[in-house]
Amino acid sequence: MKEAKMKDDDIANELLTPTDYMSHKDIQELVQTLQTHQLELEMQNEELHLSRAKLKESQRRYFDLYDMAPIGYCTLSKEGLILEVNFTLASLFGCARHDLINKSIIKFIVKEDQDVYYLCAKKLFQTNLGLTCDLRMIKRDGSVFYAHAAASAEERDPQNSHVMLTINDVTESEKARKKIEQLNVDLKAKVSQQLEELRKKDAILLQQSTLAQMGEMISMIVHQWRQPLNAISGAAIELSLLNMRGDVSGDDISRNSKFIQNMTQEMSQTIDDFMNFNKEEENSLFSLSDSVYKTYEIVEAQCKSKSIKVNVDIDEKLSVFHNSRAIEHSLLNLIINSRDAFDESKKTKNKKIDIYSRESDDAIFLIFKDNASGISKELIGKIFNPYFTTKEEGKGTGLGLYMTKRMIEEVNQSSISVESQDDTTTFTIKFPKSA
Ligand SMILES: Nc1ncnc2c1ncn2[C@@H]1O[C@H](COP(=O)(O)OP(=O)(O)O)[C@@H](O)[C@H]1O
Ligand SMILES: [Mg+2]
Repeated sequence: MKEAKMKDDDIANELLTPTDYMSHKDIQELVQTLQTHQLELEMQNEELHLSRAKLKESQRRYFDLYDMAPIGYCTLSKEGLILEVNFTLASLFGCARHDLINKSIIKFIVKEDQDVYYLCAKKLFQTNLGLTCDLRMIKRDGSVFYAHAAASAEERDPQNSHVMLTINDVTESEKARKKIEQLNVDLKAKVSQQLEELRKKDAILLQQSTLAQMGEMISMIVHQWRQPLNAISGAAIELSLLNMRGDVSGDDISRNSKFIQNMTQEMSQTIDDFMNFNKEEENSLFSLSDSVYKTYEIVEAQCKSKSIKVNVDIDEKLSVFHNSRAIEHSLLNLIINSRDAFDESKKTKNKKIDIYSRESDDAIFLIFKDNASGISKELIGKIFNPYFTTKEEGKGTGLGLYMTKRMIEEVNQSSISVESQDDTTTFTIKFPKSA
């Protein structure tokens, strides 16, 4: 009976809800606690939503960064199999991404360039340093593009290291590079062709000016010989006159033959002087006054015959390191030009050429001045140009001053300049002392 009563109580207790035996205050407290929990849950829920949104956003950014990067990117196994590949690289190859997974990267490299990749990969694993190489790669449609590849080894798991590889399509820049290369080759060919043409022109120029100068030399020899030839002829005439009068003595014969010998020796000396004048010379330190007198001797007879007075005033101590032949031939050109200018000016009196020296701290100057005609402002800027001449055909080549300038400038940075005032023309040759 008692047992039955207890069972009934248990059943009654089970049927009662907690609120049945809780006081009103307890219930109020419970409700409050529950409300607080609900609030917390709602807040947590919101946070969850937020972090889900953030995750989505970073997934999107990762997708942008990895897949849509402006450079092809893939991860390779040590054996060269593609493990991961970004969208850019897949589109570069013209394949779907899943078609590339587990394919060997070698398949996409032009046969001739595969060794480049092998070598690069080998070095990469030996040194663990990032490497770059240039390869030709093949797209799915068989077309070839130039790729610049940069690889580095991923060493998180030494047993299972990966290669991270970026591939950039550099076809356009490679095409531009090749074009520039070709342009350079063409340009070089053009330059050397033009140089060759210039060299040929230069050789012709040199030949023409040498011929013109030889002509001048012959005319100088003629002048130098005229006087001794006349004298020899005079001595011969004198002897034959004496002979005709039956007056010729042994003394007369030996005096005249001595005289003729002297004259022929003088003529032979002239030939020697001209030969010496044309002898090739190396650069050397030589006396400026010796060179000026040597040149003067060559033209002396002609200048005298044209009443041109040549005044030489060179400091005998002055020496320059130069090519003496170049200086002498330049001086000769200047004297010939003065002679021609005097001829053209029809001047009869006070015809003179002054050749003198000056010295400053850093240079020696050789100054050449004539009072033949002067050179007009319009022409003076052109006189050193090749083929510039104001002389009539057959008289001038226009090469004298051009060759003079070259001879002076090509050795030891010396220079020549010209100025003119009224009827005077002054050429100044400057030899820097440091040269
Ligand atoms: N001393 C000078 N006086 C006047 N004109 C000169 C003198 N030297 C040179 N010239 C002018 O410079 C020109 C060029 O001289 P150059 O090069 O020697 O050639 P070319 O003597 O064959 O004409 C001459 O034609 C002449 O007009
Ligand atoms: Mg001349």
